[in-house]
Amino acid sequence: MTVLVTGGAGFIGSNFIFHMLDAHPDYRIVCVDKLTYAGNLSTLESVMDDPNFRFCKLDICDREGVDELFAEEKPDIVVNFAAESHVDRSIENPEIFLQTNIVGTSVMMDAARKYGVKRYHQVSTDEVYGDLPLDRPDLFFTETTPIHTSSPYSSSKAGADLLVLAYHRTYGLPVTISRCSNNYGPYHFPEKLIPLMIANALADKPLPVYGKGENVRDWLYVEDHCKAIDLIIHNGRVGEVYNVGGHNEMANIDIVKLICKELGKPESLITYVTDRKGHDMRYAIDPTKIHNELGWLPETKFADGIKKTIKWYLENEKWWKDIISGEYQNYYEKMYGNR
Ligand code: NAD
Ligand code: DAU
Repeated sequence: MTVLVTGGAGFIGSNFIFHMLDAHPDYRIVCVDKLTYAGNLSTLESVMDDPNFRFCKLDICDREGVDELFAEEKPDIVVNFAAESHVDRSIENPEIFLQTNIVGTSVMMDAARKYGVKRYHQVSTDEVYGDLPLDRPDLFFTETTPIHTSSPYSSSKAGADLLVLAYHRTYGLPVTISRCSNNYGPYHFPEKLIPLMIANALADKPLPVYGKGENVRDWLYVEDHCKAIDLIIHNGRVGEVYNVGGHNEMANIDIVKLICKELGKPESLITYVTDRKGHDMRYAIDPTKIHNELGWLPETKFADGIKKTIKWYLENEKWWKDIISGEYQNYYEKMYGNR
């Protein structure tokens, strides 16, 4: 069985590759990644020499390159993680989001059709559903919640989802889609909330909380997401969407305070800054379908997962310090300098 994983040098894709090599020692895993600012080859160091693993530097929008790779590898399963993934960057520059997230998805699916893959899986997000109000804790996103996006990022992901479902209906491509809530864990790029706050707190730098810090996200340990995708690609029903989330809603400010506590840093580092444009208030997933159909349940409790994550960042300083010492400095200055 050959599984082609795109975006495998990023946060969730790399964790998925580690999971698959471990859980399916007889599978061949081919990773395709363009190595954008968010992709790091050092993340895959531990598997580079694994005979069941191949890394291929390639843009998923490169139709010819993708076709050649499919001709060579004849993958049985494709899992498409590759994307521009950061909401704030999409607000600054939407175009690359449309290119990679929508056009790239179509290129991957055209190759999947041509070479007759058994399953094309699209890694999507709960952000396609828009947001929920803070005063209605009884409301959750189900798979039938209407698509109602807020940012260029979420719109590009929703566009890709619609295209995936259209390829199923029109061409009979055997697709599945997962829509997961916020992940956290090892190799999370430091532009995102949890690793950014850990890195800043360790350097005694201000902790920039958008708006009032009231926005709620539904956090899931990355390994649990990877296990859900593994179940869906093997046992999920073709043409179906599966929501993935662990009923673990937390306000941003509570996450930041928890990080301060765990690291023994003062809450006086917390600085309220100008809010994100169009900032979604609350995400909350109803994971009943994946639980009932595939038996999936999250295994890592947030209290344990956040401790493991902080420990990982403390023990792997070189990984994230290399990142934040480069081009990231310009990004940080631009986004937070005068905020
Ligand atoms: P990430 O930004 O950490 O990684 C993205 C990876 O894709 C990088 O390695 C990058 O180099 C690669 N990439 C970008 N453009 C590419 C292109 N044109 N061709 C080939 N490779 C390219 O992202 P992530 O947080 O790991 O997210 C992975 C996927 O999961 C995305 O599709 C995202 O929408 C989705 N998702 C993320 C979360 C989350 O909380 N992080 C939650 C739900 C869904
Ligand atoms: O819900 C799934 C989505 O989760 C994924 O589809 C996205 O790829 C992923 O980036 C993530 O999106 P968010 O926008 O929720 O994640 P982010 O880490 O950027 O922000 C989490 C919350 O923290 C959000 O309410 C904004 C806030 N925030 C973020 C940063 C970076 C701050 O208050 N300060 C910050 O500096």
